[in-house]
Amino acid sequence: MVTKDDFLLNKDIFFFNNGSYGACPKVVFDKYQEWQRITEFQPVKFFQKDLIPALQYSRKLIGEFINADYDDLILIRNATFATNIIIHSLDLTPDDEVILTNHEYGACRNAWEFWQQEKGFTIRDIEFDLPIPSPESIINEFEKIVTKNTKVIFFSQISSLTAQLFPAKQICGFAREHGIISIVDGAHSVGQFPLNIQELDPDFLFSNIHKWLYAPKGTAFLYTRKNLQYKVKPLITGWGWGSKRELPSGSDYVDTNQFYGTNDFSSFLTIPDAIAFYRDNNVLELKRECNALLQYFIEESTKITGKQSLYSKLPDCLMMAVIEIPDKYETLELKVILLNQYKIEIPVLEWGNRKLIRISIQIFNKKSEVDYFLSMLKQLF
Ligand SMILES: Cc1ncc(COP(=O)(O)O)c(C=O)c1O
Repeated sequence: MVTKDDFLLNKDIFFFNNGSYGACPKVVFDKYQEWQRITEFQPVKFFQKDLIPALQYSRKLIGEFINADYDDLILIRNATFATNIIIHSLDLTPDDEVILTNHEYGACRNAWEFWQQEKGFTIRDIEFDLPIPSPESIINEFEKIVTKNTKVIFFSQISSLTAQLFPAKQICGFAREHGIISIVDGAHSVGQFPLNIQELDPDFLFSNIHKWLYAPKGTAFLYTRKNLQYKVKPLITGWGWGSKRELPSGSDYVDTNQFYGTNDFSSFLTIPDAIAFYRDNNVLELKRECNALLQYFIEESTKITGKQSLYSKLPDCLMMAVIEIPDKYETLELKVILLNQYKIEIPVLEWGNRKLIRISIQIFNKKSEVDYFLSMLKQLF
């Protein structure tokens, strides 16, 4: 049985915030440190001989995990990085429109707004209030906003602030029908959602392996559809580019984006171990229990807060959910009370004019911890 002892987390804290940065199991972290030692032991051999095949092996395994050709994947540090590579690469002009939703992650929205200043395109927002009635209602809103100038739809498959599952397959299909590029922010997807790239068929999709798939921090991938790979420009140009490139992997798209100079690649090389942890511990099965606990938390907490659930129906893949709370405390004030007085680490957020708490149930969270949190909520509200 997996417990918190299998992770490096502080045992004095009730940890309900896997969503922000993930949690790395000890066995994977040991491998991470082993790769750092291997790097230091014989650095020249490591960088010049061993690194590229090891990176390729990591890409291969994550490719198998998400049913993607591994040559369509590059390993990058995180979702923010991926967002920037994509926007930087697209030839957007002042005539073009990009659609975002009001559920996007702040850093990614910043990236869009930064590049908007550089390139002059227009950002158009779709607002989805909660609870979202159905996947069809989402597509209807996209239908309404699209114009002949729409070039890109950017959306989170599982949103950060609101923990909603967006129907990625339908949205990508809709974009394709309209000749629009689809970019899926799947920061929370891999390990939480059963990702299948062939089935989803996005133009771009990126995901943090460090959030829900147990890799150390700074481990992510970017998938790009083959016919768009020629567009992908590196944010930093180095040995991977040009006719005299070193360390070639056989693909321009991979080479130009995989080697940004001397760096610590260890986290990328633990991907096989992170996937092994997921498989060996039958996380697919354990996720069902996490989802049931999430459902239980929503039912019990809404009795305390007197607020409606923010889901028409909680999707059964989710390990993270939000509840609305009464406007009794400032968000930061409540977060500090929860952490300092009750030892509960959990995000308290403001979204539109609502105050939300986002709970993550990872495989180490127990019902007794959820019950403790519910009893604290009862005292506070
Ligand atoms: C939906 C979403 N997108 C992007 C990010 C950014 O991830 P990172 O900080 O790893 O770049 C996050 C982080 O929580 C997120 O939740």
